[in-house]
Amino acid sequence: MTQEWAFDFTDRTVVITGGSRGLGYEMARAFSSLGAHVVIASRKLDACEAAAARITEETGGRVSPYALQVTDWDQCTAFAQTVWDDRGGVDVLVNNAGSSPLYDSLTDISETLFDKVIGLNLKGPFRLSALLGERMVDAGGGAIVNISSIASQSPRPETLPYAAAKAGLNAATTALAQAYGPSVRVNAVVPGTFLTDVSKHWDQDDFQERARTFAAQRGGEPDEIVGAVLYLSSPLASYTTGAQLTVDGGA
Ligand SMILES: NC(=O)c1ccc[n+]([C@@H]2O[C@H](COP(=O)([O-])OP(=O)(O)OC[C@H]3O[C@@H](n4cnc5c(N)ncnc54)[C@H](OP(=O)(O)O)[C@@H]3O)[C@@H](O)[C@H]2O)c1
Repeated sequence: MTQEWAFDFTDRTVVITGGSRGLGYEMARAFSSLGAHVVIASRKLDACEAAAARITEETGGRVSPYALQVTDWDQCTAFAQTVWDDRGGVDVLVNNAGSSPLYDSLTDISETLFDKVIGLNLKGPFRLSALLGERMVDAGGGAIVNISSIASQSPRPETLPYAAAKAGLNAATTALAQAYGPSVRVNAVVPGTFLTDVSKHWDQDDFQERARTFAAQRGGEPDEIVGAVLYLSSPLASYTTGAQLTVDGGA
């Protein structure tokens, strides 16, 4: 493969929220192995520090850990400014931090829980995208990748606030691509079922039965999200913006 058709993030700054574990950790490993300076941010600074050290040991690259509560508007504002200043710019933002809490019934959902789900999966990603997207435009370009969910396209009662938040994130992806194009591309990856920490809470027999109906006949391994994120972040996706790329094993 010639360099022109290979992924190369040498000297690029890539910010990944929720990069301390799960899908975000695998993305961070991949970007780091391809030459990027990776910034990982989550609530637990010690977890980010440990993850950064593990990745650096493996790749030899620089990984910078930050503490960030994505649901908090003011923390997103401060984080965007700090990271931009610390690194002298950001080339790629991956809005990956997200979660779908369990609840017993729709009426059991508290206002606090509802607001938290919207804050983490929609409000925070919007705020970070707006602040860093605008700076990227001024600096000449960049890419934003929002990690959505198949729940946004097939909403179910068990994940209603999450599905609604991720559907909002899909809508934001379309509008942000319009706002910051042509120099900044904004896309969404729409994962199906991946075997991260969340899958430990599932009934394994139920899941195996459901997974047999997927074309791939299994759940995804965390590193199987990586190719889609690298592609959308790279110049190989120069004519791809406002898109939703489903990675669900044909579920
Ligand atoms: N796994 C799946 O099957 C699946 C399917 C569809 C979509 N997705 C989406 O893919 C993304 C990654 O999922 P995952 O399974 O890898 O999740 P995960 O293993 O639970 O990891 C979540 C990451 O986000 C961070 N995080 C959680 N809440 C946060 C907050 N309020 N502020 C900042 N960081 C926070 C966590 O670190 P701290 O705990 O330190 O904050 C952790 O690094 C999410 O957006 C999820 O909705 C996953």
